Amino acid sequence: MEPTSLFLFGLTTGVAVSAGARYVENLVMSRSVSSSPALPPLADRPRRRSVRYQDEVHRPDDDDSGDDIPSALVRLRKQFNVPAEKLTQIVRHMVAEMKKGLHDDHQTMKMIPSHVIRRPNGNETGSFLALDLGGSNFRVCEVILEGNGITRMRQKKFTVREDLKTGGGAELFDFLADCVASFMAETENKFNKEERKKLGFTFSFPVQQTSINAGVLMSWTKGFHASDVVGNDVVQLLQEAFHRKNVNVNVTALVNDTTGTLISHAYQSPNTYIGVILGTGTNAAYVEQLGNIPKLKDAASFNSDEMIINTEWGAFDQENVVLPFTEYDFKVDRASINPRQQAFEKVISGMYLGEIVRLVMLDLIETGELFAGKSSEILKTKYQFETAYMSRIERDHTLDLSDTKAVLEDIVKIPKTSRTDRVIVKGICELVGRRSARLSAAGIAAIVTKINRLDGCTVAVDGSLFELYPHFANRMRDALREILGLSAENIVLEQARDGSGQGAALIAALAEE
Ligand code: BGC
Repeated sequence: MEPTSLFLFGLTTGVAVSAGARYVENLVMSRSVSSSPALPPLADRPRRRSVRYQDEVHRPDDDDSGDDIPSALVRLRKQFNVPAEKLTQIVRHMVAEMKKGLHDDHQTMKMIPSHVIRRPNGNETGSFLALDLGGSNFRVCEVILEGNGITRMRQKKFTVREDLKTGGGAELFDFLADCVASFMAETENKFNKEERKKLGFTFSFPVQQTSINAGVLMSWTKGFHASDVVGNDVVQLLQEAFHRKNVNVNVTALVNDTTGTLISHAYQSPNTYIGVILGTGTNAAYVEQLGNIPKLKDAASFNSDEMIINTEWGAFDQENVVLPFTEYDFKVDRASINPRQQAFEKVISGMYLGEIVRLVMLDLIETGELFAGKSSEILKTKYQFETAYMSRIERDHTLDLSDTKAVLEDIVKIPKTSRTDRVIVKGICELVGRRSARLSAAGIAAIVTKINRLDGCTVAVDGSLFELYPHFANRMRDALREILGLSAENIVLEQARDGSGQGAALIAALAEE
């Protein structure tokens, strides 16, 4: 079947060009400080500007002391608040779990050695394809590294239909190959059919990587459930699909989106030691000393002291030892296609936040505390209250919460809402959104503590929650201060973009060397 593209090639070119231009500028800036191919030591690295945080507006309903807070919200606050002591406890537990994962396989935090041991130095050249699969969109990019830090990029996005996510694995991989074929056919610079194109594959799921271009899928996440993929080498599956579809491409690198984010950001900001995704799913990768990875038996064969580790922190605490799961989180987990897995992801990531809010609203409708006890078909349907609605509601600072009214009445089709209803819904979004940001900060604090970088470190963060959700970065920053005290000022959170495209191409280029 022909893949459906989300954006036409011509439309994305402008975006890609401007992203490319920014990238060029960044590369040029980074060249003088990034000439060492090994991951550089922390000392004497330049500090870069962090993202600018919006000032969070503290409204009356942010304030615990007010008398007129609906009692439902007071009750929910007790369940969703994560105080500083709890965050510290989470940090301690995560550091211990990270160590366990570095020691042995089959631990909750998988701590996967990425086999990426070098950073780009700006001199890499060549033309690479980069694929990005990790959510509802599949992206195909052509990245041209021209040397001297100059990069050009074209891309095309395709929608991954629900039936492909949960159908047969071969169909999913055939779809990917069809998309690549369609991209190659449409690209203005017609690809030379004789030349075997090299490809970096960003596959953002837990993969036990056995080399830079081989890895076995351990489990699906984020609503994917395609059969016959878990337990198999995803590069081989992709390569076989290319073969079936007669696409002349060689997969030379397999990359997690967090590793791609770290590598592409380190290219412009060499003090980057951590890459984090806060989007549909969540995860982090960081730079570890090879000597601290006892489970890596052939460590001596790597000509480096360091390697990037993909933590797969989304799985953290699936035994439920420290995470403050509420009754609503348990419900989300039980009804998910991967119950008792990805506990941290389910309280943080964009895939689940709207669903948590939906379940809280249904509960309050049941008790008659919301919408005069009236619901709607949309609200009764799983995953139909999107995290993007929460964003819109949290951004609504009108006196009568008119945009919240539009979301609830026009989109969610609640027959009628009062201002109190809307205050309650906004309050629920704040509680769930703030908890997500605070728990993400705890994850970052754990990694910074583990690698002993409290004196300074840049964290590259990509994903829609961090980029678009109101106050998210501020709330993370507040929590970091509560956990780390003054040292929090040394941790720079920077917005990263497109690690999955550029990062994959750079890693493919490095793999070639
Ligand atoms: C996956 C990770 C990925 C993260 C962000 C999680 O569900 O397990 O591999 O990095 O989502 O895309």
